[in-house]
Amino acid sequence: MSLRLKMSVPVPMEQSESPARDLEALIRSRTPLIVIETEEEPRVVNVVRAIAERLKLKSYRWTVTDGLKSYQPADQPHQSVLKSLEVLAYIKSEARYSLFVLLDFHPFLDDPVHVRSLKDIALSYNTHWSTVLLVSTRLSIPEELKAHTARFQLPLPTVEELKGIVQDEARRWGGEQGGQSVHTTHEALDLLARNLTGLTATDARRLVRKAVQDDGVISQSDLPEVMRAKCELLGGDGLVTFEYDTARFADVGGLNRLRRWLEIRKTYFSHSSDTKLDPPRGVLLLGVQGCGKSLAARATAGVFGVPLLRLDFGMLYNKYYGETERNLRGALNTAEVLAPCVLWIDEIEKGAAVGDQDGGLSHRVLGTLLTWMSERKKPVFLVATANDISKLPPELVRKGRFDEIFFVDLPSPEVRHEIFVIHLRKRGLKPEGFDVAALVATSEGFSGSELEQAIVSAMYVAAASERGMAQEDLLNELQQTRPLSVVMGERVAALRDWAAERTVPAD
Ligand SMILES: Nc1ncnc2c1ncn2[C@@H]1O[C@H](COP(=O)(O)OP(=O)(O)OP(=O)(O)O)[C@@H](O)[C@H]1O
Ligand SMILES: [Mg+2]
Repeated sequence: MSLRLKMSVPVPMEQSESPARDLEALIRSRTPLIVIETEEEPRVVNVVRAIAERLKLKSYRWTVTDGLKSYQPADQPHQSVLKSLEVLAYIKSEARYSLFVLLDFHPFLDDPVHVRSLKDIALSYNTHWSTVLLVSTRLSIPEELKAHTARFQLPLPTVEELKGIVQDEARRWGGEQGGQSVHTTHEALDLLARNLTGLTATDARRLVRKAVQDDGVISQSDLPEVMRAKCELLGGDGLVTFEYDTARFADVGGLNRLRRWLEIRKTYFSHSSDTKLDPPRGVLLLGVQGCGKSLAARATAGVFGVPLLRLDFGMLYNKYYGETERNLRGALNTAEVLAPCVLWIDEIEKGAAVGDQDGGLSHRVLGTLLTWMSERKKPVFLVATANDISKLPPELVRKGRFDEIFFVDLPSPEVRHEIFVIHLRKRGLKPEGFDVAALVATSEGFSGSELEQAIVSAMYVAAASERGMAQEDLLNELQQTRPLSVVMGERVAALRDWAAERTVPAD
């Protein structure tokens, strides 16, 4: 169903906004100074104007470049009030029942005269009944003013507000195109708005504008790019990255039990809002190297049909020495903002067990992760992978942390058959042209990754002789390879023993 977007009655944004109510309550509570730290200056200014109108107050804005300006021509100051101290004097002695928005006033708070003047204004509130709103990106309030100041945080836009922004941008694009309208569906609009939650209005608007601009269409296909940009905005220096590449289980040989387990839980993500089901929390995939753990993690996002985010646990330590836990919390928060999603932590043992020499840091990091795992509110499905059990902290594998711990073993003959077929097809080769049963018989103990490598090498050999790859090439490669399961036989055996008691086979 396609609709052409015609929205002839623009809804003023501030009408539907809840921040207005909260800020209004603060102003009515006779707080003389209000600090708002925000990147969204225009939004604050709009909200304040709307409140002033409702409360029948005068409203002014001041900047160092423009001086003091009223929003109503009738209320304009008689003489020009330009300097920072002039505006403070004006507020104290000339103003009555007004709201003053001082934009980027923070540099002046380093000066004792300005600080004292603001304090005078606060102390004489009962004579002028005016509130001063200090609006900057960052602003720290001097000790002397703290008792008279309240901080107000502009909440992020709600889904309804975001819908307004999407519609607004669609209209605007239409206007620029001489009355054309954006092609979209109600579902696509809704989905886009939902996927913008967690962003500021300014950022959301920018992403929507980009999505509409290129083709005049808002559709499901805009989502990956929007999500990527959103992840970048929130992801904090690449700790969390958005992965475009979600695999499909059709590309994975074996792992049938894991696949079924996920398929059953898919319903949770597709009926997200009103389901009574307990949310699935996450799985730990443990197993032999190169057998498809990372591949399966990607495929999980594919099964659930949600974005895949990757958290680089190792980087947490390298990059942010001294701020590790805070950054982990930030990263987990990002994942919640981007929910529903799959959060993938590859090789979790590398980040969760740095050693005993780190002053307890890795324990605290693990604690932060475990706390989050048990308390998270949003549908974030965690997929962690590990292959070194000796480094795996026992807390992590304790019952109840993950919904399930799956063991990804070396592929059985049937699974090797599937893997050969998958990887031959992937390279444009017809499996029917090969005796796959013979290949399977020659590759006992090979991991999926080693099977793939054998195909790749055999293709190179054949290409060097300028012919297509044949059965012989592949058999040769397999016979020449000493698989990891042989080279590291003891380790694999120990891993299997360990897993037998604690995990469920993934296949
Ligand atoms: N079961 C499988 N089905 C299809 N391809 C596989 C399978 N297992 C491995 N492969 C191939 O081998 C590549 C490497 O596998 P993957 O990275 O998923 O292994 P892993 O278990 O994560 O290994 P590691 O423990 O070294 O991280 C995959 O990208 C895929 O091409
Ligand atoms: Mg891996």
